[in-house]
Amino acid sequence: MINVLFVCLGNICRSPTAQGVFSTLVDKEGLGQSIHIDSAGTGAWHAGDPPDPRAQAAAKARGYDLSLQRARKVIAMDFHIFHYIIAMDRQNYSDLSMIASPETLSKIELFLTFEPNLGVAEVPDPYYGGTDGFAQVLDLIEAASRGLLQDIRRQHIDNNTEN
Ligand code: 4NP
Repeated sequence: MINVLFVCLGNICRSPTAQGVFSTLVDKEGLGQSIHIDSAGTGAWHAGDPPDPRAQAAAKARGYDLSLQRARKVIAMDFHIFHYIIAMDRQNYSDLSMIASPETLSKIELFLTFEPNLGVAEVPDPYYGGTDGFAQVLDLIEAASRGLLQDIRRQHIDNNTEN
């Protein structure tokens, strides 16, 4: 099993969207039994809350259901459980780096590095903006999700006789 954790600030907009989009892609590819997906926030303000209604509505319009997700804060144990810890922006990356131990630091990746052709490094925080922001977040996440799955296949699944 490969474990993937998406991380943003509040765990109510970007990382739940990433969890929903990536889970759907993984299921479509028949890899639901091989890849476990979760999300968390570096902040705890929204712990226990469902995703922001605007994020849920934007996701639903593209066929993703985020309604059963609940926010939680990243914990130290996450760095041992998950193989990929995926930050939405540089601030998330930096906050995660401060919690990681030296031997787990290399698990942290900036999400959009999995789709270098986008020419964008960060998934922008849509919380204080308009609805356009949520659609843009989905565009970026859908593109990077394909790149991430390719990376997981290459590194852990395809031609791997040890699994
Ligand atoms: P997220 O968005 O990090 O994509 O979940 C935010 C949600 C809440 C807040 C900030 C960003 N907040 O400040 O409460």
